[in-house]
Amino acid sequence: MLRFLTAGESHGPCLTAIIEGLPAGLSLDIDQINEELARRQQGYGRGGRMKIEKDTVDIVSGVRFGQTLGSPITLIIKNRDWGNWQEQMSVMGAEAGEAVTNARPGHADLTGILKYDRQDIRDILERASARETAARVAVGAIMKQFLQAAANIEIASHVINIGGVKFDKPVTFSVINNNRSQETGCVDQETEIAMKEIIDKAKQNGDTLGGVFEISATNLLVGLGSHIQWDRRLDTKLTAALMSIPAIKGVEIGDGFYYANLPGSQAHDEIFYEAQKGYYRKTNHAGGIEGGMSNGEDIIVRAIMKPIPTLMTPLQSVNILTNAAVKANTERSDACAVPAAAVVGEAMTAITLAETLIEKFSSDNMADLLSAIESYNLRINRC
Ligand SMILES: Cc1cc2nc3c(=O)[nH]c(=O)nc-3n(C[C@H](O)[C@H](O)[C@H](O)COP(=O)(O)O)c2cc1C
Repeated sequence: MLRFLTAGESHGPCLTAIIEGLPAGLSLDIDQINEELARRQQGYGRGGRMKIEKDTVDIVSGVRFGQTLGSPITLIIKNRDWGNWQEQMSVMGAEAGEAVTNARPGHADLTGILKYDRQDIRDILERASARETAARVAVGAIMKQFLQAAANIEIASHVINIGGVKFDKPVTFSVINNNRSQETGCVDQETEIAMKEIIDKAKQNGDTLGGVFEISATNLLVGLGSHIQWDRRLDTKLTAALMSIPAIKGVEIGDGFYYANLPGSQAHDEIFYEAQKGYYRKTNHAGGIEGGMSNGEDIIVRAIMKPIPTLMTPLQSVNILTNAAVKANTERSDACAVPAAAVVGEAMTAITLAETLIEKFSSDNMADLLSAIESYNLRINRC
């Protein structure tokens, strides 16, 4: 079984992740992990924090001479901003700094202090902050390397909607890889200009925007996930993984909500067979998943991110100590983070596919795992 946990506060000393269950003998490239971390920090509309942080990973267990040992892997990403927060975020000692008391609508602030019995919203926001997703991106970068080494599976994403400005035509995996802009995550230059304009306008008004990103995974093995139990379904795991990203409010696979408009005759992917190719489809309405299992076609999944809840022109709220009507707190914040969320979405997709792959071909080491995959592919004629 593959599992991971993350720990760390947004302005604490570091983020940590522990991964357990990766086979021994996987070669890791640390630069690739750092490249993914850098991708998460980019994007048009990001706030000042991203200018301070230059995320890089330290691997402090589970890897020796560039190869996994099969033991737990510990990742550490230092928070550069920690230098400015040592007193306010001190683990021991007296309280320092001003308490945050004006709850932000749309954030964990109010419910968090009520549930955890805290008097300073900072006790909640430090962990609710999407800074935590840097740790997931580092874990996902390792899973991407694992998927590539195990089965040549690749994952990419592009942004198809920011604040209602859309480019949602179907695109191939290579178009995403070659044309995805670093700034907006969009593959179409004209749409990117309009996206940047609408982000600029939102920023000028102290407002924020959300949007939609699409993830593709290619070279899929047939049969990841299972139809036999609700929680073993790949679609269950994938949608839960994407919904776990802060601010993601909807996920659809393949034609998703559009299925409502189609008759069955146009909704399903007819099945073909060729000796060289094995079974295949000419269409991909299903987004690569049927009966809770990958069917070998590309996995296509979209997620919608709500607008960022911290507004520079703050919304109406209450002070949690006095219950007086106040304007919400304004933390340093992003105006739009859909391109970054897409990178986190890639990571969560990689983690889910790695988890289901290891579930199917359970092994302590890469050599045994590779031969299990090879003999499976031979049996089902997809070599
Ligand atoms: C990559 C990324 C960056 C984010 N940046 C911010 C931000 O700067 N300010 C903010 O208020 N929320 C930001 N969010 C969203 C909040 O973390 C999220 O809305 C909040 O934790 C409440 O969770 P919920 O929206 O799932 O209810 C970001 C989310 C992601 C995925």
